[in-house]
Amino acid sequence: MAHRGKRSRVERYHDRVARSYDGMYEGDRYWDLYREITWNHLKRYLPRHPGATGLDAGCGTGLWGLRLARCGLHVTLLDISETMLDVARDKARSQGLEGRCSFVKGDVATLDGVADGSVDLLTAQGDPLSCVEHPERAVAAIHRVLVPGGVAVVSVDGLFGGAFFFLERDDVDGLASFLASGRSQWQTDARNERFPTVAFSAARLRGMFERAGFETQSLIGKPVLPLRRFRRLLDDRATYARILSLEMRYGAEPELMGGAAHLEIAARKPSPTAS
Ligand SMILES: C[S@@+](CC[C@H](N)C(=O)[O-])C[C@H]1O[C@@H](n2cnc3c(N)ncnc32)[C@H](O)[C@@H]1O
Repeated sequence: MAHRGKRSRVERYHDRVARSYDGMYEGDRYWDLYREITWNHLKRYLPRHPGATGLDAGCGTGLWGLRLARCGLHVTLLDISETMLDVARDKARSQGLEGRCSFVKGDVATLDGVADGSVDLLTAQGDPLSCVEHPERAVAAIHRVLVPGGVAVVSVDGLFGGAFFFLERDDVDGLASFLASGRSQWQTDARNERFPTVAFSAARLRGMFERAGFETQSLIGKPVLPLRRFRRLLDDRATYARILSLEMRYGAEPELMGGAAHLEIAARKPSPTAS
């Protein structure tokens, strides 16, 4: 998707929003909860050995990559948007994490510039795999860069959770075509920044990783409760804590997962078995 000279739509959109990106989520309890769910899932797979390596693919302003660096990993932060990388680099500098971080402008679809078998833990958050034309190729690239035994924790747009967007607009034709294909468009006012997106059912997400040679470790909805419609509940601290604990308890419940706005898989690249 990356072009020399001419920026792709994905790049153009993310370059424009990069400097205001963190502010879009600040002070919003829904996104606080979303991030707590994410961290609780991701930290289960933190490698503990000295010199462990991480890759934050589609790092944006560095939220997860810098967190992994704070946990002691040597992290590559990769993004297609140069401006996102600039913001992430500034944050690494101001947080004293520069020594453990490197920055790569690149495409999650190929992960060119990341060596084969070099990454213990890869994460791709905020759904970069939903922004590529051929997500299967991105999954093959993820498999290539992981060490045997390494884990990928990847979030994507959820298919059935995406139905609300069309229902709220009385767009049943749009809904039917979205449910059949998973294909949609990033909604932004600037037409020349709209890019195609792809949403996944839990079965499709799992199948895509397993066909590429991964073993699924866990699969969760983020969140599984329909909290976008009940955001006000999250303003109360005690209720927020109770809802978070329900998400932790039921997040992997297959019957609830279908309606989640986002799905997240943790998948391991198997180690060769000793003969
Ligand atoms: C919604 S933001 C999420 C940023 C960050 N991971 C987070 O969770 O805060 C999605 C990021 O993915 C990046 N991205 C989208 N498509 C990409 C691609 N094909 N290759 C690399 N990065 C991509 C965007 O530039 C953007 O920074």
